[in-house]
Amino acid sequence: MQVFELEFTLQGRDLISVRDLQVEEMISIFELAKEIQESPQEYSEVLRGKIVAVAFYEPSTRTRLSFETAVKRMGGNTVGFSDPRTSSVAKGECLADSIRMLDSYSDLIILLHPLEGTARFASEVAEVPVINGGSGAGEHPSQALLDMYTILREKGTLDGLRIAFVGDLRYGRTVHSLAYALANFDVTFDFLAPPELRMRREILEDLKQKKVPFRETTELEALLPEIDACYVTRIQKERFPAPSDYEKVRGSYQITREMLRGAKEGMLVMHPLPRVDEIAFDVDDLPNAVYFRQAKNGMFVRMSLLAHILGK
Ligand code: NCD
Repeated sequence: MQVFELEFTLQGRDLISVRDLQVEEMISIFELAKEIQESPQEYSEVLRGKIVAVAFYEPSTRTRLSFETAVKRMGGNTVGFSDPRTSSVAKGECLADSIRMLDSYSDLIILLHPLEGTARFASEVAEVPVINGGSGAGEHPSQALLDMYTILREKGTLDGLRIAFVGDLRYGRTVHSLAYALANFDVTFDFLAPPELRMRREILEDLKQKKVPFRETTELEALLPEIDACYVTRIQKERFPAPSDYEKVRGSYQITREMLRGAKEGMLVMHPLPRVDEIAFDVDDLPNAVYFRQAKNGMFVRMSLLAHILGK
């Protein structure tokens, strides 16, 4: 089926992968996010009477709090847990049973889980829409939307840009979603990672099929004068099969203020956060270090997303 023949609505739909979204739907999410950011008061009743369940099986600061704040700023309520040890999971309840319960209590479920595939599974169990808040090393679609919204705000466009992804491209779910989503635009990618943490093969194959130009490299400094944005990620320590594998790559890259002297003018330094040691703290006050703005934008993008799926 032709993409443009599909029904253009997000009402009642799941968001499991960015590949579930058409470009027009992404643009619509960005446009509403901008309106909400300009006049949040006008959207304070959009989720009145709605209850959103947040089931967070992994530690999270930004994703959980920005989703919860987004719901509350639009007049809705949240239930759920941020530590599965305080739920019946600790008594041995399986994911399907927990999801069935949340499904019967709420109007939408946001799930963050350490295992890949769990969000898709939950969406098959639940009647209400499910948003994937991050599924293992797989995807993190709402993060990709807020990353793109940030690029759009900062650069005024998503086209004609050359974007480098730096760090853990193997286990980092945010870069997987962002690569898939940006592939719909006129972008060039540079993937820079330790050999053990190269970008996943299936994503490279997908980019080849879509004829999206990309390069794999290990030389960051040479790239800095060429790129429009540098998206840095944390090494996903918790996803490594063995601690010794993590030790091999630990601390293998760091963006410093000194290094950025050679960067192209206006080059964005991005990061989904949390940062450990991959961006030096003295980079934070550079005008193009946008990671905290990125996190703030996240709340508006999530408000827009929830309004599209659940709003009146
Ligand atoms: C990321 C995640 O959870 O995948 N964080 C986030 O959502 N902002 C990145 C990470 O944990 O490194």
